[in-house]
Amino acid sequence: MAHLQPDSPYATERYADTTRSVEFKPDAKAKFDALLERYPTKEAALLPALHLAQEEFGWISPEVMVYLGTLLEIEPAKVFGVVSFYNMYNQKPVGKHHVQVCTNLSCMIRNAYDIYDRCLEKLGLQPGETTKDGRITVTEVECLGSCGTAPVVQINNDYHENASVESIDKLLDTLK
Ligand code: FES
Repeated sequence: MAHLQPDSPYATERYADTTRSVEFKPDAKAKFDALLERYPTKEAALLPALHLAQEEFGWISPEVMVYLGTLLEIEPAKVFGVVSFYNMYNQKPVGKHHVQVCTNLSCMIRNAYDIYDRCLEKLGLQPGETTKDGRITVTEVECLGSCGTAPVVQINNDYHENASVESIDKLLDTLK
């Protein structure tokens, strides 16, 4: 039902729980409407609309994909295709703090896996898991587009560049 991970473009609608209503709150809906005015077509606003939806709902559930598809007049399968292509969209619920460790080449050769392993070890998590109190999720991600300052760890919307095991270890202690 609602929390199953879609595994094909057709799964989005199949798994969406249509009894669970998903709707922007008025202020988010106002931002969405303002977005539409900046793009030539509704479909062209899909990426920023997904950002907005992630801010609003925390993750892009199948219900959110169907909702956005309706608002933008595009097939939910198309929304799913975009969501699954970009790693910045959460396809599962995440904790209050989402720690994303880039392990692509530039970061990897600058010890990204030491940072990643330390995060998991310190929090007692397996990759992609969330702490039991819902506070922190740790995931491994593809290039964050800041290779010149590798290794990079993104926590929610903030980039932590030239990271080290020690700096991230300390940072984790501050995430309440
Ligand atoms: S490889 Fe990590 S930011 Fe590009």
